[in-house]
Amino acid sequence: MSANIKLAGVIGWPVHQSLSPAMHNHWLKQYGIKGAYVPLVIQPADFATCVAALPLMGFAGASVTVPHKEAAFALAEMRDEDAQITGAVNTLVFENGRVAGMNTDVCGFAASLNQSLGKDAASAGPVVVLGAGGAARGIVLALTRAGAPEIRLINRTQARAEALAASFGATAPVKTALWGDWARAFTGARLLVNATSLGMIGKDRLEISLDVLPSEAAIVDIVYNPLETELLRAAKARGHRTMGGLGMLMHQAAPAFAAWFGVTPEVTPALRAELEAALNA
Ligand code: ATR
Repeated sequence: MSANIKLAGVIGWPVHQSLSPAMHNHWLKQYGIKGAYVPLVIQPADFATCVAALPLMGFAGASVTVPHKEAAFALAEMRDEDAQITGAVNTLVFENGRVAGMNTDVCGFAASLNQSLGKDAASAGPVVVLGAGGAARGIVLALTRAGAPEIRLINRTQARAEALAASFGATAPVKTALWGDWARAFTGARLLVNATSLGMIGKDRLEISLDVLPSEAAIVDIVYNPLETELLRAAKARGHRTMGGLGMLMHQAAPAFAAWFGVTPEVTPALRAELEAALNA
């Protein structure tokens, strides 16, 4: 393969469901860049060995998805601030013989929120976040930076929510609440974010009651498969403004593409349409 062809890929286990190859190859074509982006199915035990081999094969970097984000954090020799705060790396960049780790999920969520629901979406009032995993951690960071006055964090495993809140300390306005106590958590809220995997194809249903959620509250689901989750359908039926997970996926990919290929790509309706078609296929 010619030396001026740049490679990148997505490392996951499994990875067949990933939309990242369609997304990055769409941009490579759009910007006329000689390159390719491929799925890399790598077992956890082989992660470090395979990552070490990638630069030798001409890879400029890689996206990292489930279950490797913490391993990527551990392996990176340099990390950006958001990786450092979240403890997770979703983007590896190979530069001058070293492995740099970035977390672009935080700015991806922020950019999507801004574009879909406007710049005041987080700061308008109390925000409820469901979940306390890696995704929730990044979202709490993005919401705090966007001016959320209060973040009510609710997780099935309460201790995990407490640990997340404690790790942010006074730098984020997080209060934990009990899973199932929806009436209390949703009273007066202006934004609800599902940062759990519930509602995703193949996972359990997200069973919550939106009854006391004010009608002016917007509802966000980071799940994008299905495109319209049960939560988003219920939200629309009640007249709430909504945002699905595809925007975050596209916006987190843009800075990664820029780091590998040197062009900051645009998140366009054409890209969204292509990804929606891939999901519906
Ligand atoms: P990610 O990095 O994508 O956030 P994760 O760390 O596995 O993945 O977190 C998944 C989130 O979905 C967690 O908040 C998890 O709750 P627990 O901490 O209690 O495990 C939540 N989740 C997954 N399945 C769930 C279920 N059946 N009911 C409630 N919450 C669930």
